[in-house]
Amino acid sequence: MAQEGSRHIFVNAGPIAHFSTGDLSKPLVGLEMSSDEQIHPTGWGFVIESGRFSAISPSDEVLSEFGQNSVVHDLSGRAIIPGFVDAHTHLLWDGDRSKEMRMRQQGMSYAEIAAAGGGIRYTVTQTRGSDNLLDIGRSRMQTAIGHGTTSIEVKSGYGLDTESELKLLQLYSDLQKESEQLRMSLTWMGAHDIPHGLKRSEYVEQILSEQLPAVIEQGIATSADVFCEPGWFTLEDTEEICKEAKRAGLSIRLHVDEFANGDGLELAAELGAVTADHAIHSSDDARASASEAGTLQGFLPGTPYVMGSEHWPPIQKCIDEEWPWTLATDFNPNCQSLSIPMTGSLVAHRLKIDPIAALAAATRNPATAFETESECLQGVITVGAVANFSQLKSESVESWCQSPGHSPILKTWRL
Ligand code: NIG
Ligand code: FE
Repeated sequence: MAQEGSRHIFVNAGPIAHFSTGDLSKPLVGLEMSSDEQIHPTGWGFVIESGRFSAISPSDEVLSEFGQNSVVHDLSGRAIIPGFVDAHTHLLWDGDRSKEMRMRQQGMSYAEIAAAGGGIRYTVTQTRGSDNLLDIGRSRMQTAIGHGTTSIEVKSGYGLDTESELKLLQLYSDLQKESEQLRMSLTWMGAHDIPHGLKRSEYVEQILSEQLPAVIEQGIATSADVFCEPGWFTLEDTEEICKEAKRAGLSIRLHVDEFANGDGLELAAELGAVTADHAIHSSDDARASASEAGTLQGFLPGTPYVMGSEHWPPIQKCIDEEWPWTLATDFNPNCQSLSIPMTGSLVAHRLKIDPIAALAAATRNPATAFETESECLQGVITVGAVANFSQLKSESVESWCQSPGHSPILKTWRL
């Protein structure tokens, strides 16, 4: 952290991917995501005061105007990118589900594994019984930080009763107080699965009468999420839960259409959800409705990757149609990667998505679903934005997603 009042100037940057064109409260879409306009040329620099970018211009101008009484850093021509915004993680849980990989290889589906005692409810049992969650959370936060993430959305959802869900949210809140390196956005996801011993309708009733009111009363989460999927929560359940959550001022983030098209994306658009994630099997009409409603399609390519699925998100189509989309890790017991560069590699290497477009989808675009007033402006490098950025090892921005298994980042700065 910078000392209060100290001014830092950074000069001799390589290309700077700033993503700061147009209305910053809106995501970039289509070809503007990868336009040359999003990148300042090699040789620029910037000034940081009180944790914000306060000037960005060619290095000689930065030096002549602000060189006095500043701490000067030389970026030695390395490419600069905004800190990553990982907008979909299930960060906190205990237990080990590695055995499920062999079950998948033997042909069992996600639902069949869950019915056989694995899946989310297995993790719920392990998590409820854990006395190690703070340490687990600390270690995972360090991993995310080490991969260039500066802002992360974290979900509850492995408690599935009022007390355990509140405990998970409280732990996130405690973890946030310990670290200024990683901004957290807390999402309540009590409707992640149906706990053992209850029928779906009974659990939904418990959520509406007890769990959600308790979360609202504590004011501990800013968003609500539901696993809206055939076999889990229905469209009606999702609508009821989200309407209550919205009434209390929570924003809506949903899991939709992951294994089948259950019209979840359409509902997300109707509800005015800020983001609807997975969205693998959604119809094109629903994608157009989501775009119209300002609902982001949050793609999580790590999930089909670990599931051995051939159903990849239709990202190029979203670019062609100018539908807004984002990328996130979906860190969870099956998909244990907190590396946004790995996620970027999956879409760049496997789906031939332009690496600059993929970067916009992991920085500015997800940031627009959080608070966007100027004091929280992030995911972009522009005057007034939070001064989180990474210096890559390479002189090319494109390198950010081309070293799967190795970090492309030389240093992440959070001033
Ligand atoms: O986003 N699909 C629902 N939730 C997680 C997986 C949770 C789990 O399997 O434990 C997801 O993929
Ligand atoms: Fe998820």
